[in-house]
Amino acid sequence: MKNSLFGRDLITTQDWTVEEIARLLELAAELKAAKRAGTATPLLAAKTLYMIFFDASTRTRNSFETGMTQLGGHAIYLSPDKMQISHGENAKDTANVLSRYGEAIAIRHCAFGEGNAYIREVARHASVPVISMQCDIYHPCQILADLMTIRERFGRDTRGLKLGVAWTSAPNYVRPLSVPQSLILLMPRFGIDVTLACPPEFRLMPEIEAQAKANAKAGGARFEISDCFEDAFAGANVVVPKSWGPLMTTRDTKQGLALIEQYPTWRCDGARMALGSPDLIYMHPLPADRGREVTDEVIDGPRSVVYDEAENRLHVQKALMALTM
Ligand code: CP
Repeated sequence: MKNSLFGRDLITTQDWTVEEIARLLELAAELKAAKRAGTATPLLAAKTLYMIFFDASTRTRNSFETGMTQLGGHAIYLSPDKMQISHGENAKDTANVLSRYGEAIAIRHCAFGEGNAYIREVARHASVPVISMQCDIYHPCQILADLMTIRERFGRDTRGLKLGVAWTSAPNYVRPLSVPQSLILLMPRFGIDVTLACPPEFRLMPEIEAQAKANAKAGGARFEISDCFEDAFAGANVVVPKSWGPLMTTRDTKQGLALIEQYPTWRCDGARMALGSPDLIYMHPLPADRGREVTDEVIDGPRSVVYDEAENRLHVQKALMALTM
């Protein structure tokens, strides 16, 4: 069978069809089973992935780098301060040069208003696939791992499941919009009803909310927005309580952090979890702010699947690289 995904970028799941995503998830499941069985899968022998991190990472870096090792290839960790990007080298030159050496370029760049534009500019000039490892708008690999985790728990037919995406109050820094935005875009395409719950100042990008509505209509699912935290939990099968910044209200960090402090009760706890379906699972992409976003009782409890979710980053990214590189 011809691999129509060879050479393709992944910057948002919107660029891939439901069938292509389902195919990636099937391969991810096969690679997970092979790893568990101790079977080698050297699908990318002698191939190289360049990983450019403008922002910190634990899961993304280690799952991509480990994934390339397991596929028989090599991943190189790069940060702009150690590259000529720090002296102003542009996306075109970086893209063209790395394309002459290796087989794919992966980038994390979360600065609001800059990250997605930079990744798209690299993709415009690269002759190899460009993979987003998270930008200011999307986090496609995280959400593919989330969908894999949901399918493992509830089966491949996810139609009719209810997902709550709930804003939570977390201090110290303004977190990107990319996780909730990617969740509300992808899950309705697989028939999952989504409720987004957030205070009014924490609404997502209007064009992403509109696209999520359109995706829900096409996928035969519901997409609702509420300013009541509990609505994300009521009757839900899956809940992702996660902080993000009020970036549609203010770009000022001090003002943003002050707004976050106005809603200290937006924290996932046992009482909120009890509002869900008896099979409700708790998900979080990590890192989580324990005590502020979620109680230890929940994140360490029997409904939490956060380590499965983190593990599945490895498997979906191996499938992604094997299909595209
Ligand atoms: N979930 C996630 O992307 O984790 P890192 O920021 O550690 O890569």
